[in-house]
Amino acid sequence: MRAQSLPHSQSLVRPLVENLCAYVPGEQPKIKGLIKLNTNENPYPPSPKVIEAVKAAVDDRLRLYPNPTADLVRERLARLHGCRIENIIVGNGSDELLALATRGFVEPAVRGKAANSRSLIQFFTPSYSLYPVLASIHGAEVNPVPLAEDYSILIGTPQMPPCGADLRSAGSRNLRFRGHPPISEQSSGIPERTRKTWKSDAALTFITTPNAPSGRGYSTAELDALCQSHQGVIILDEAYVDFAHENAMSLALKYPHVIVARTFSKAYSLCFQRIGYFVGHPALIAALHKIRDSYNVNGLGQVAAAATLADLSYYRANFKRVIAARQRLTDELTQLGFAVAPSQTNFIFSKPPQFPAETWLQRLRDKKVLVRWFKQPEIKDFLRITIGTDAEADALLRAIRKIL
Ligand SMILES: Cc1ncc(COP(=O)(O)O)c(C=O)c1O
Repeated sequence: MRAQSLPHSQSLVRPLVENLCAYVPGEQPKIKGLIKLNTNENPYPPSPKVIEAVKAAVDDRLRLYPNPTADLVRERLARLHGCRIENIIVGNGSDELLALATRGFVEPAVRGKAANSRSLIQFFTPSYSLYPVLASIHGAEVNPVPLAEDYSILIGTPQMPPCGADLRSAGSRNLRFRGHPPISEQSSGIPERTRKTWKSDAALTFITTPNAPSGRGYSTAELDALCQSHQGVIILDEAYVDFAHENAMSLALKYPHVIVARTFSKAYSLCFQRIGYFVGHPALIAALHKIRDSYNVNGLGQVAAAATLADLSYYRANFKRVIAARQRLTDELTQLGFAVAPSQTNFIFSKPPQFPAETWLQRLRDKKVLVRWFKQPEIKDFLRITIGTDAEADALLRAIRKIL
């Protein structure tokens, strides 16, 4: 959105907001025939039963406020995860809840005062680019901690001394992208000047697991060890977990300071309805209920989410299709000279051959295929490609062959 200047000499907007770099969402272009592989949407539609339920709800009840606590959705989620509804809060997308967590658990930093862990928001880099924006909006301090070159969590190293044990399995140091030299043969990890130390007392820590944009998954065991050594609130952001080998929901029910964030946007084909949720200790969840909008989850969204939870077998079949398409795309792109990171998500992160990734973005766009490129220096050589249908994968591969 273009900033318009006001006809006053003095700004009416808070300096923090004036100076804010807002989050940039993936493009939603209206180009006919475009193959859209840039925002990790699900290529398959919601279940017919969900569409039916939403259509049936478009009636006189639109004049009424929806249930303020999304009770039916929470009841079905509680049954799914084997917990109580007091462990759950539903939001207008998980983004809303991530923002609520900053307001609920983090003190804004006071200018001129020494840094304080109560004001600290911590996250790995690269990971979900919304976290630093939420921290800026809240006026919090940030501690971005670089992941290793293979996107593993460096635990038990000088970057993260508090965790004690080195949890990386012996093999993971040599984990490599297909078609790429082993990580150990490349430059040795994190540049000294960007090293930051993991702070186990940070008020709020976000961990994207599996990671975005790399697609790398983390084991519950390594996340468990990280949570154990931590005092502040940890949010395990499992937006893509339905496409992964394992999930860490048990940790949200085991530790009082751990929350698992989930969304209906990716695996459940429901971006349009904006539904996400947190599972965590009732005390943390109650705190967030206190500060959310009274009717934060729209009525049709609640209907769609409840119907989704009543038809999970439809979605589980789709996860399998996406995972199979991910394997096929990984294999074919590798053959074409792309270096593809192993993915446990509904996208792949890959370094294209011959031209810079930004050039590929443009050339693919010219051929009506839209993928995502990030200009941050540490990931600027990569493209993030959402897994689409088989036909979309065919079109992408055809476009790539023509470009090559
Ligand atoms: C890691 C991660 N967390 C959360 C979200 C937000 O999901 P929602 O659509 O539920 O707000 C996204 C969306 O792209 C994401 O990538």
